[in-house]
Amino acid sequence: MEIIPEKPLGSTGKAIPLVGMGTAVYPFAPSETKDSVLHAIKIGYRHFDTASVYNSEKPLGEAIKKALELGLIKSRDELFVTSKLWGNNAHPHCVLPTLQQTLKNLELEYLDLYLIHWPLSMKPGNFEFPVKKEDLLPMDYASVWKDMEDCQKLGLTKAIGVSNFSSKKLDDLLRIAKIPPAVNQVEMNPLWQQKKLREFSAEKGIHITAYSPLGARGTPWGGDRVMECQVLKEIAQARGKTIAQVKFS
Ligand SMILES: NC(=O)c1ccc[n+]([C@@H]2O[C@H](COP(=O)([O-])OP(=O)(O)OC[C@H]3O[C@@H](n4cnc5c(N)ncnc54)[C@H](OP(=O)(O)O)[C@@H]3O)[C@@H](O)[C@H]2O)c1
Repeated sequence: MEIIPEKPLGSTGKAIPLVGMGTAVYPFAPSETKDSVLHAIKIGYRHFDTASVYNSEKPLGEAIKKALELGLIKSRDELFVTSKLWGNNAHPHCVLPTLQQTLKNLELEYLDLYLIHWPLSMKPGNFEFPVKKEDLLPMDYASVWKDMEDCQKLGLTKAIGVSNFSSKKLDDLLRIAKIPPAVNQVEMNPLWQQKKLREFSAEKGIHITAYSPLGARGTPWGGDRVMECQVLKEIAQARGKTIAQVKFS
């Protein structure tokens, strides 16, 4: 695998490798996650994306432990690990205990990046996925973001950020944040390019991570549009690559 470029994150965050491996496979937490991550580490991936809702924190942690035992990496510090706060715990005073549980699941002392998964809270406690509309609640951004900032100050995560935030929601957050979000993770692919959000984020120094870069085929949140796109097929064919191998910028 070629060397993956990195980008420094904010003032305290570690550099983020610009290509990473996601661990959201639906139904969540298939038995293959540990082996898939281990294989990814073997071939050079260093950035892994998980979330409490994916149920993949434990197998990701087990794979990291195994990679250390096998000497594939010398230290956990060589990896960039992101996890996310689900809406049922996006309430004042719930953030720190939720991150502590995430770290326990991963058997890690710190995350590289902790994200608010969606700009919404949900009824506390157990939840169903897909989430029921009646369980959605507006988020108390000021309190939840302050708790995220405290998590970073405590050293439990190197950087904090958000996911699925529009320019408007980022703008609202920037007005109250003492530590600005380092990252906004959003859906982005050749058919959903997020031009306005990219411009806004560049201006504010917020890094964008693209999720569902191939359109999330075979999941309840995606479909075939990217992988079946005729124009993308022609571009890939002209370059002698598959759609997944072509770099679009
Ligand atoms: N923050 C959020 O709200 C959010 C939401 C969604 C995802 N994410 C993150 O982003 C990660 C990636 O997104 P995603 O899984 O939704 O979508 P994706 O990466 O666009 O699509 C994954 C699907 O693409 C196909 N695929 C993967 N590699 C391929 C290749 N080399 N050639 C051909 N097909 C390939 C596979 O489908 P088949 O199995 O059918 O071959 C796979 O299930 C997730 O794992 C998760 O970590 C975050």
